[in-house]
Amino acid sequence: MPDQLTKSTIGLDGVPAAETALSHVDGLKGELIIAGKHVVDLASRSSFESVTARLWSLANSELITEAEVRTQLGQARVQAFARLPDLLTVSGGVSLVAAFRAAIAGLRTEDGISDDATIVGALPVIAAALARRANGDAAVAPDPTLGHAADTLRMLHGRDPNAGEARALDAYLITVSDHGMNASTFAARVVASTQADLFCAVTAGYCALTGPLHGGAPEPVLEMLDTIGTSARIEPWIDDALARGERLMGFGHRIYRVRDPRADVLKTVIETLAVNTTNLPFAAEVEAYARDALKRKYPDRALDTNVEFFTAILLDALAIPRQAFTPIFAVARSTGWTAHAREQQRRGRLLRPSSAYIGEIPA
Ligand code: CMC
Repeated sequence: MPDQLTKSTIGLDGVPAAETALSHVDGLKGELIIAGKHVVDLASRSSFESVTARLWSLANSELITEAEVRTQLGQARVQAFARLPDLLTVSGGVSLVAAFRAAIAGLRTEDGISDDATIVGALPVIAAALARRANGDAAVAPDPTLGHAADTLRMLHGRDPNAGEARALDAYLITVSDHGMNASTFAARVVASTQADLFCAVTAGYCALTGPLHGGAPEPVLEMLDTIGTSARIEPWIDDALARGERLMGFGHRIYRVRDPRADVLKTVIETLAVNTTNLPFAAEVEAYARDALKRKYPDRALDTNVEFFTAILLDALAIPRQAFTPIFAVARSTGWTAHAREQQRRGRLLRPSSAYIGEIPA
């Protein structure tokens, strides 16, 4: 038994838990490859359906086309809408994030059999219906002829998005669709490794996503920007937060030792979006000071802006309510979770690490 485990050993830093052909994060170069392509290229030239088709084809070793995915997701949105009364049973004093968890857990049919599209297609329907319900508005039926991103915005806002808005959400969904062995994907793979079904794996993935150290960060990013409020307050607010030992939301990463490449992909999308955005120059001031302050406090540990900082600004610019940010992240990441769960079931082994016992040894 080891005498003492280091912090990095306890956090499983750099320990490969699976082989995957789905995505790769190079933390030193600041590169993310999804299904064999750089995220920068995918976000500017692809569609969510096309990236999903690539991931599912790799996971199942069976070709599925972008057109087939588009059709399947459209049909799945329609089917999920018909099931909404049964799915949205949790209400009253429960946060949107928690109601979403209950709803996706309820997606499972008794036989546990699904195609992957049933799950991925249902998520925006549930997220949009919950966001509208929070405002006292009725759910909007999906339009299966639209792309997944455009229909998500339509179901959220009750109007057709313009091409720029639809493109911006599409780029976001692509950018965060998969990201190596992140905590939620690991959780999904652990569940899938027991040969539990896809519904269980995705529900586990979502639960792991909701924490602020992972996909729960964007809402607090906006809260931080709101609380700081003015340029004059940036320096004292950040210095105080760091002095209290708090973590600045939207900064730092377990893998990246340079800037998270997804941050700049999303920043570019925001700059091309012709709608009112969060005060971008102010956010840039906060970002610049936070990076400097983190560098001063942790000179040996590169802590830079991560994807969640610009996720918050982009989703806010698309008028998505902040309580729905994590469910919208799940809409995107569900494509990665389903692909990883399939890959794990097909090619992996039971994931069963060990622990270092530090308790009492009986006499
Ligand atoms: N603000 C202040 N201090 C920080 C931050 C931060 N954002 N990130 C790390 N640190 C500190 C950390 O407390 C530790 O200090 P100490 O040695 O005194 O305990 C030191 O820096 C080294 O931390 P680390 O080992 O690099 O941190 P980690 O790998 O355990 O955590 C992280 C990675 C993303 C959880 C962390 O950077 C963090 O909490 N960031 C804020 C939350 C956030 O933005 N989450 C979204 C992550 S990106 C989305 C995704 O891909 O999942």
